Amino acid sequence: MTERETWATRLGFILAAVGSAVGLGNIWQFPFKTATNGGAAFLVVYLLAAFLIGFPIILGEFAIGRRAKINAVEAFQRLKHPAWTIVGALGLFTGLWILSYYSVVGGWVLRYIGGSITAGYFGDPAMYFDSVSMGWDAIALHAVFMALTAGIVAFGVEDGIEKATKLMVPSIVVILVGLAVYAFTLDGAADAYSFYLTPDFTYLANNLGDVVPYAVGQAFFSLSLGMGAMITYASYVGRDDSLPADGGLITVLNTAVGVLAGFVVLPLLFAQFGQLPETAAGGGPGALFISVASAFADLGLLGRAAGAVFFFVVLIAALSSAISLLEVVTSYCVDRYGLSRPGVAFGVAGVLFLLGTLSAWNTAWLGWFDTLAYKVLLPASVLLGVVFVGWVYAPQAVDEIEAGSNLEWFGSVWIWSIRTFVLLGVVATLLLGVNSIYGMPPLPF
Ligand code: PFF
Repeated sequence: MTERETWATRLGFILAAVGSAVGLGNIWQFPFKTATNGGAAFLVVYLLAAFLIGFPIILGEFAIGRRAKINAVEAFQRLKHPAWTIVGALGLFTGLWILSYYSVVGGWVLRYIGGSITAGYFGDPAMYFDSVSMGWDAIALHAVFMALTAGIVAFGVEDGIEKATKLMVPSIVVILVGLAVYAFTLDGAADAYSFYLTPDFTYLANNLGDVVPYAVGQAFFSLSLGMGAMITYASYVGRDDSLPADGGLITVLNTAVGVLAGFVVLPLLFAQFGQLPETAAGGGPGALFISVASAFADLGLLGRAAGAVFFFVVLIAALSSAISLLEVVTSYCVDRYGLSRPGVAFGVAGVLFLLGTLSAWNTAWLGWFDTLAYKVLLPASVLLGVVFVGWVYAPQAVDEIEAGSNLEWFGSVWIWSIRTFVLLGVVATLLLGVNSIYGMPPLPF
């Protein structure tokens, strides 16, 4: 058996994990969820969810992965709790489920880079979205995105994922900062900032039942939790790394990129529409594309350049997330069955491409896949992981969290948080999600 790969450097691990975390969730969903759920009020709840609930959970996944040093499914067998393999299996399934439509949106992003350069969407952004988001066009670009993802994963951990994300993550941050500075100069910036930064607590009090599960679900998705991704990435980490320090940094960076994306998207919307546009208020998968594209369309030549740069950054963010989703199943098949890495990466990508053609054919499917993932699969998978870490595997998990860090008190505070408010937050999110499932968008048949 060949020796298991590891990250070449600690920074390599951090950037790969940030690359996984920073994705469409931060740039596509977060600004729009903020826009449609009360602005700053949503931001406050989201920040609390990311740091108080997401951060302890990411540490739990790290503890499992680093201790087991194996893929997310077999980890539970190696930790001598084979019955809990269900956590890894559900995570793997959820990740594949999500990747099937994540790649469709990735394909749209590819298309919008071209559409910016050629001014293709400048005439009628809504019609453009309708014509490229569904049907053969969408299927073709979905195939391209999936192939790019598999191509990187095929190269392996150090040569593929680590090298790619080392380049991608800093570029995302630099370009987003540049775009945020540019957005600052727009007319609507002041209104956007006040919407984004002045919380309306009355709104929050009246809508708590909606805002909380949205914000917590968003934090899970954004931090790549519940899908085996962080377990897998941590399995390549050495025992002398400080997990609390790494996890803290990853949480801060991921949250910062989401917040930064808000500083780009919201001023663009306010500048273009003077308020939040209908498309944004209605949410939906097309919201970012239609509203942001309208804003770029209004800016003429400058809009072409800004649009191409914006969608390029969305593309690399999406790619670095997609590779982590594909890596979960790839590492499982390579570890377990000794299959060739490129073979698994492209084989699974092929199957997911087929599943994703549903979402690429009709966005109603995409909405359906996404809702089920957010409201049921993701919180259920996270909940099982929390119970495992908090009760079944607590002493070893605490030991693992403290190994490599000098914080002896940290482990007990951490496990206490998992057993109390983290558990409560996850259960509430799952129940509210399941309860609202009756409101899922109808299927197209
Ligand atoms: N965190 C990614 C995003 O915000 O777009 C999505 C994601 C990637 C979720 C990888 C889960 C995962 F395992």
